[in-house]
Amino acid sequence: MRKKIIAGNWKMYKTIEEAIHFFEEIRGNIYESDKVEALICPPTLYVAPLLAGTLDIPVKIGAQTMHYENEGAFTGEVSPAMLKSIQVPYVIIGHSERREYYNETDETVNKKVQAAFDHGITPIVCVGESLETREANETENFVNDQVAKAFENITADQAKEAVIAYEPVWAIGTGKTATADDANAVCGAIRSKMAELYSEDVAQAVRIQYGGSVKPGNIEELLEKEHIDGALVGGASLDPVSFLQLVEAGA
Ligand code: G3P
Repeated sequence: MRKKIIAGNWKMYKTIEEAIHFFEEIRGNIYESDKVEALICPPTLYVAPLLAGTLDIPVKIGAQTMHYENEGAFTGEVSPAMLKSIQVPYVIIGHSERREYYNETDETVNKKVQAAFDHGITPIVCVGESLETREANETENFVNDQVAKAFENITADQAKEAVIAYEPVWAIGTGKTATADDANAVCGAIRSKMAELYSEDVAQAVRIQYGGSVKPGNIEELLEKEHIDGALVGGASLDPVSFLQLVEAGA
């Protein structure tokens, strides 16, 4: 039985006051569960203070991105060693916005996935197709290719621990959600790809999230599906009440 993972990707939203207010609202209203893990990935600037300030509540704090080198002249970046040094448990890798605006390629995604595992940080590996690719009926090939490249040189023991987020680019922040059946079909294809790359054992262990306009109103239907083990949520994770509802849906 895979533990569900509901992750909020705050992107570049919230002042520190707003972030603190969010956790004040969450505190006392969220409970440890065997069935679901809750995670917030705030802007990098807030990762350390929020980690320290939320040790008493069952919400983990992750990072939205990182470099693959441990140190160097990379202005503005944070390294895997830095995240490790403050005990960050998860890092989102290869989000489509990073791929689109910051030239992340399948190669850099793979280096980051390797670097995350090397530092004991669990990567949330994002994959997903554009509308053009979907309309050309190339979704599964495209997404499976992204998965294969992201996991090059990753061992089976590491791959088992990974989280993969299937986020169709056309569904992000648009209010358009893939139907639960469509999302499940692609998540199932990703699971089969992991079986082909590794083994059935790895494929059954890896957790696959859906992301793209997930809200309290549509999460239950998504989580009922066989291959959907959680959600990576943008907009709806910014509001504490809706984030709590999303986590409760997984419990
Ligand atoms: O990483 C989460 C994401 O890109 C989806 O965003 O706002 O459509 O939930 P949103």
